[in-house]
Amino acid sequence: VGKSTFSALLAQGLAADEAKQVALLDIDICGPSIPKMMGLEGEQVHQSGSGWSPVYVEENLGVMSVGFLLSSPDDAVIWRGPKKNGLIKQFLRDVDWGEIDYLIVDTPPGTSDEHLSIVQYLSATRIDGAVIITTPQEVSLQDVRKEINFCHKVKLPIIGVVENMSGFVCPKCKNESQIFPPTTGGAEKMCQNLNVSLLGKVPLDPQIGKSCDKGQSFLSEAPESPATSSYRNIIHRIQEYCDQHHFHEEKII
Ligand SMILES: Nc1ncnc2c1ncn2[C@@H]1O[C@H](COP(=O)(O)OP(=O)(O)OP(=O)(O)O)[C@@H](O)[C@H]1O
Ligand SMILES: [Mg+2]
Repeated sequence: VGKSTFSALLAQGLAADEAKQVALLDIDICGPSIPKMMGLEGEQVHQSGSGWSPVYVEENLGVMSVGFLLSSPDDAVIWRGPKKNGLIKQFLRDVDWGEIDYLIVDTPPGTSDEHLSIVQYLSATRIDGAVIITTPQEVSLQDVRKEINFCHKVKLPIIGVVENMSGFVCPKCKNESQIFPPTTGGAEKMCQNLNVSLLGKVPLDPQIGKSCDKGQSFLSEAPESPATSSYRNIIHRIQEYCDQHHFHEEKII
């Protein structure tokens, strides 16, 4: 539905402020996609005296992913719960992140071991909250309701929901089509019903996939796209949320 894409763009958006140190952690152990999206495919982590060093895209943007530990991006990682949890723990304990202002965590879909582990391991640091990504159609919203329930159960604040792939404006005729029709009222109605914030809607833009596949930042590649302005507004709202909550610490996606 666009979680990894959003995490990558959020990291790039926050790192545009050179005074802030941003970390992006990919805990999708079986299907890591962050290295490719950040243009870091084939990179390896370095071991130093103080642990693993993240791979830096910019001086103030470090990335960590299981993808950096594989010899080929096509290698499958088939790991069960305990081993996955061990690796997530290592990513937090053994990676030398330095001083950071933001930690963005890209998760696999659903509410499973990885989600529980990261919330547990970070519980001492007061996580700012979760950003939940959905598309407008009911199947996706169903998953999101479960994710919201999960957050309530583990007492994880919810920063808000992003409705992705929300409409498509044809570049030729400028007509808007609903590729994923909001048959049950979309994220807007769900957010009202469940009393969570809707951070914004991002339209479909084929350029997003193209930029991500090439490891380029869509925000700077397509500054004029309506999707870019939606992303920027949402990133701004997340910054405001974190500023208000004072603890510039962790954020989970
Ligand atoms: N607004 C958008 N418009 C067009 N394409 C998009 C948009 N958002 C995401 N995509 C594309 O959709 C695909 C899936 O996105 P992404 O990998 O970010 O999803 P995900 O939620 O992380 O998936 P997974 O659950 O497999 O981790 C990618 O090819 C991405 O480029
Ligand atoms: Mg993903």
